[in-house]
Amino acid sequence: MKSVLNALLSALILISFQAGAQERITRYVPTAKPDRIILNITADPVTTMAVTWRTDTTVTETVARLCRNIAGVLMADSALAVTGRSEDITADGVTARFHSVIFTGLIPGTGYAYSVGSGAEASEWFTFRTAEAGAAPFSFLWFGDSQVGPVSSYARVIRQAYRSVPGAAFMIFTGDLIDGGYNSKTLDEEWGDWHRAAGFIASEVPVVATPGNHEYYNPQDRQKREFNRYWRPGFTLPENGPAGLEETDYSFDYQDVRFIIVSSDQMLRDEAIARHQTEWVESLLKDNPCKWTVMAFHHPVFSTAARRDNKIVRENLKPLIDRYSVDLVLNGHDHTYARGIMKPDGVVQRGRVAGTVYLVSVSGSKQYRQDAEPWWETGYTNTQFWQKITVDGNRLIYKAFDASGSLADQFMLIRMKNGSNRIGMPPAVRTK
Ligand SMILES: [Fe+2]
Ligand SMILES: [Fe+2]
Repeated sequence: MKSVLNALLSALILISFQAGAQERITRYVPTAKPDRIILNITADPVTTMAVTWRTDTTVTETVARLCRNIAGVLMADSALAVTGRSEDITADGVTARFHSVIFTGLIPGTGYAYSVGSGAEASEWFTFRTAEAGAAPFSFLWFGDSQVGPVSSYARVIRQAYRSVPGAAFMIFTGDLIDGGYNSKTLDEEWGDWHRAAGFIASEVPVVATPGNHEYYNPQDRQKREFNRYWRPGFTLPENGPAGLEETDYSFDYQDVRFIIVSSDQMLRDEAIARHQTEWVESLLKDNPCKWTVMAFHHPVFSTAARRDNKIVRENLKPLIDRYSVDLVLNGHDHTYARGIMKPDGVVQRGRVAGTVYLVSVSGSKQYRQDAEPWWETGYTNTQFWQKITVDGNRLIYKAFDASGSLADQFMLIRMKNGSNRIGMPPAVRTK
């Protein structure tokens, strides 16, 4: 009897072990109705725009419709049908089909309306605007790590930012958008949560995404690296970076500002890749027709905690940042907020003549302790932030807001005739 019981017990343990080993099924199962509709910046935002969305595999056609965002009633029937490409992913218990379309031949500085999918399952109409062909004032948004709890904590940040800056040209995310399997969710659920928080905002304001270290975690084994399988299908980002780093390292010019996006995690892990990235960054800085230059990557050049130093990133990029006078460097990873200026000789700069302004920010609920590192002048902990950056001729105005919409930090750079920047406070807004 005892041996029968033992055999039964062993069988039960085996069954429960096998059940536990089964892949978990995402809570965001795709359907025929498009979801995760996201605009992405392209290498030429003056005449092109990229859109990506997800369905199940019953949808065999990848088509979006596009028309001018006219003043009168939208005549959707007259819209142009544009076809694209699709890619299937089988993971997290389901097969999802990701579709992408790139709208080309657009008119500069013009409003468009678009819908994705077709027939009864077509999406609602969204709108966007192409960049102006030359220099013109604009604002963009920047978010640090959203990472943990996008629905419970990050949603209010992106919504506050959108409410405050409805005409933002695009949104930069400096990595760790999601956690990469560091919680009990599937990767798909983490992206599902991120999209649920962003909602239609990501369908109307193009996303400029930078991978962080959490986009390189293997969700089954934290010690192993694996580039997030949803990144390339889920985004349609520029492929103009170094070979092999398509959609993680790229650049684009927007109305007299050059933006350079680098995957710093790749730089930290592989010397040959780091060399490639550094050469590529230098080629963009050396031959730069724009007045302003912004670099965005995940690991800070200067960290807010001594034990989190990223020497390799600093050794590779800071000489170029100094030599070519990059105006802003936007970083994440440290889960705090900090701003400072470090001169090429390593001396902390105070006063009015500005060197490169280094910034670290965080948008989600995961917050770390901050050390009083000498490089930063302004710092915050335990606060979720979003940033608005406005470029207007010789002025660059930077403002950091907390999740409630209160202004927490600001400065203005003024480009002087000799090519240097002066730093000061933005002009006060006058009201009657
Ligand atoms: Fe990180
Ligand atoms: Fe992070």
